[in-house]
Amino acid sequence: MPTLREIARTAPFMHHGSIATLEDVIEYYDRGGNRNPGLDPEIRPLHLPSAEKQNLIAFLRSFNGHEAGR
Ligand code: HEM
Repeated sequence: MPTLREIARTAPFMHHGSIATLEDVIEYYDRGGNRNPGLDPEIRPLHLPSAEKQNLIAFLRSFNGHEAGR
């Protein structure tokens, strides 16, 4: 996994920049990633409540060195 330091400032995300926003990263994990033949069965939909999604985004923004950016 790449470093998450300054993650809120380094969009787009993933190695090909395939995900534009942190909100979309959370949605990606919440739906259990993208279906593919190599997907581990442990990676599955999470169905997180929206408050938990917002908390995860706040957590990721907390890795910024200064005031949280966009
Ligand atoms: C809800 C839980 C998770 C959150 C919030 C999260 C967050 C993130 C974020 C923000 C990135 C983008 C990093 C970047 O573009 O610089 C990322 C990438 C990545 N994460 Fe996660 N992650 C989660 C769960 C996991 C799990 C369970 C695994 C492994 C089993 C994993 C493995 C990876 C890998 C390998 C990448 C790099 C993918 C690429 O570069 O294409 N993550 N994650």
